[in-house]
Amino acid sequence: MVLKSFVFMVVSLAITIKTFHVSALDACPKCGNMEVPYPFSTDDTCGDSSYKLYCNNNGVLEFQSAEGFGYKVLSIDLATQKLIIKPPDLVQDDDMCRTTDFSSEGLRLDENLPFNVSTRNTVILLNCSDNLLRSPLNCSSNSLCRVFEDKMLEGRNNACKSRLCCHYLKDSHMTSYMIRVRVGGCTAYTCVVDIQPQDPADKWNYGIELQWMPPN
Ligand SMILES: *[C@@H]1O[C@H](CO)[C@@H](O)[C@H](O)[C@H]1NC(C)=O
Ligand SMILES: *[C@@H]1O[C@H](CO)[C@@H](O)[C@H](O)[C@H]1NC(C)=O
Ligand SMILES: *[C@@H]1O[C@H](CO)[C@@H](O)[C@H](O)[C@H]1NC(C)=O
Repeated sequence: MVLKSFVFMVVSLAITIKTFHVSALDACPKCGNMEVPYPFSTDDTCGDSSYKLYCNNNGVLEFQSAEGFGYKVLSIDLATQKLIIKPPDLVQDDDMCRTTDFSSEGLRLDENLPFNVSTRNTVILLNCSDNLLRSPLNCSSNSLCRVFEDKMLEGRNNACKSRLCCHYLKDSHMTSYMIRVRVGGCTAYTCVVDIQPQDPADKWNYGIELQWMPPN
């Protein structure tokens, strides 16, 4: 009887340790062919729940905005604590100039989570209203948005090219929690990490780089 309860105690202790170990430390399984390193969490049995990512049914790893719009994760760099997500596509309708996240007004990060938009992103805004001319953004005729439009929207998304466009570097003077699109501002955008203006626009590194704070 004594032995039995001793065995029981050892077993339950082992289970407790195992459970603790899984929830606090283990990396999640791969999603498709992407590794999901700690602290990222694709479900509540692994990783740290402040660092949620979603593995959708097609095996695509996604990051979700505060509004729940999913952006494909392109890469994760543990050493620099940065991940790159795919900018939203332009809606394929020649009479519209919108990104697919337009209904959630672009990308907004939940400020209670440990993520922000890094300072290496150049945001390219399309179909902007004249109000933007009074902003510090670069909306000149040699703005990088023109380079993008000429090279990347050749023969398509013509509605995006008719009005003003602008670009800006998402530096520390800007909010690091959103990239906004809306009627009366600009209605579509893309983003380039560490832009090399001298390179042709089809060689730019399209992505939105996010930075995360390590778990404490
Ligand atoms: C706008 O961007 C272009 C391309 O980077 C640059 O040559 C130009 O000097 C910028 N204009 C202003 C007003 O900052
Ligand atoms: C461009 O933006 C304006 C408002 O800022 C909007 O009314 C218009 O529908 C947009 N154009 C297209 C083609 O989506
Ligand atoms: C973003 O988060 C990182 C890591 O916590 C921090 O070092 C950095 O200052 C933040 N950047 C901005 C622009 O808020």
